[in-house]
Amino acid sequence: MSVFFASHTARRAVAALRVAAAVVMTAAAVCAVTPARAAPPASVSTTPPVLSDIASLGKLIFNDPALSASGRMSCASCHSPAHAYGPPNGLAAQMGGPDLRSQGTRAVPTLGYVLNRTPVWTHVQAASIFERLTDADSPPSGGFAWDGRFNTLHDQALFPLFNANEMANRDAGAVVARLERAPYAARFRQVFGETIFVSKDMALRQAMRAVERYELEEPGFHPYSSKFDAYLDGEAQLTASELRGMKLFDDPARGNCASCHIDQRGANGAHPLFTDFQFEALGVPRNPELRANRDPRYYDEGLCGPIRTDVAKNRLYCGLFKTPTLRNVATRQVFFHNGRFHTLREALRFYVERDTNPAKWYPKDAHGRVVKFDDLPPALRANVDTVDEPLTRKPGERPAWNEHDIDDVMAFLKTLNDGYRPARRSTAQSAAATATATLAATKR
Ligand code: HEC
Ligand code: HEC
Repeated sequence: MSVFFASHTARRAVAALRVAAAVVMTAAAVCAVTPARAAPPASVSTTPPVLSDIASLGKLIFNDPALSASGRMSCASCHSPAHAYGPPNGLAAQMGGPDLRSQGTRAVPTLGYVLNRTPVWTHVQAASIFERLTDADSPPSGGFAWDGRFNTLHDQALFPLFNANEMANRDAGAVVARLERAPYAARFRQVFGETIFVSKDMALRQAMRAVERYELEEPGFHPYSSKFDAYLDGEAQLTASELRGMKLFDDPARGNCASCHIDQRGANGAHPLFTDFQFEALGVPRNPELRANRDPRYYDEGLCGPIRTDVAKNRLYCGLFKTPTLRNVATRQVFFHNGRFHTLREALRFYVERDTNPAKWYPKDAHGRVVKFDDLPPALRANVDTVDEPLTRKPGERPAWNEHDIDDVMAFLKTLNDGYRPARRSTAQSAAATATATLAATKR
């Protein structure tokens, strides 16, 4: 296993470049589809609408609880706009289904920042062990969800609509029947054509396209309004504690957090997202709060299933989950894919004490031995990362950070909360505004 991970750091650097390239591509794609608008009548404000017609329809769909079997659950119920598009509560997994009594199996990730900058899933596997040793291999990265199984937002959006633990619709017909009864049905016809509801599949597909447009166009998903953004732009100074926290976060010999949660600007100057979109097994302890875990044979193996099924053959990838962004992480009440931790402090303590004091995190077996990495079947526990700092220590050694260090890192992570300065208009919007202004000027 350590052979597989030996060239880890170097491979991460290569991937970071790839992420930067992908960012440029997605940003360009967004600009290309920003619809050109006719000049408004003189009496109307010349500020262009923030969202295109399709995206504003998508916003209504995103927020509509009537599109669920319960009639009480929308996308926004789990991805709460008031909580950085993450969960509004501390539940390890949300309750959904027709009666809102079925528990999901994973924590709700934030939709903030990542939607328009997630690279497509890539999984380049070296043909030989020699190549693996020489960096020709690269670890899997990209795709949406904790296991990267969706490459587009419109495909992703179908999943919660039909998942029995979430919005629990029976079939396309059920969703489209709800859309036809929606207060915005007339607008749906206006945007997609009078006959749009004739084909259930087409109507559903267009509805998901609308959700996707909303997710890509809505500036609220990526306001870049944190203190850290202001700091990067030279408009704010970090306190001594925040700066110290940042150093610990960056220090390869201690926290090493930035090797996966990237905090440097991209090659194109883009502000960092605090993720490299790669996959990693951290050995987060099993969470008894999840009902699925009552079955001792049930394991969520991330890339290997049970939800994702197409790459399960590669046993080296079992237990790996996608690195989440840490923007707004200090506003969360639930952490990691299985929601095992409920405070940021506990999550940070886990990183630095997982190996120095495993008995604190994992249960004991019948013989009194600590079962490290108990949320994976024994045969797959070797996939857990034990080569990247701070995950390399031995029981009894000193943790990479003490409580005072953790205070400082928490102070630093809080600078990633949005709302420090007024949200700015996104580049795409400013471009659209300029275009509209120019058009208006030439018509006058
Ligand atoms: C019951 C709670 C719930 C509802 C309702 C819900 N989601 Fe999610 N969402 C989740 C969970 C949990 C995940 C992680 C899923 C996984 O890893 O398998 C997720 C993942 C996502 C992701 C991937 C984010 C990333 O960074 O990879 C997107 C995008 C998303 N949801 C959009 C939506 C949309 C659009 C809707 C409405 C059609 C919706 N969600 C409804 C709980 C929910
Ligand atoms: C080797 C890559 C890697 C390193 C190094 C790393 N992380 Fe992570 N981080 C991940 C992955 C992968 C996850 C999700 C794992 C899971 O849920 O099973 C994660 C999850 C988290 C979460 C939970 C976020 C959420 O939304 O649930 C926090 C907080 C976090 N990391 C902070 C840190 C800090 C602080 C450090 C430095 C001590 C660090 N990470 C180092 C890869 C890494």
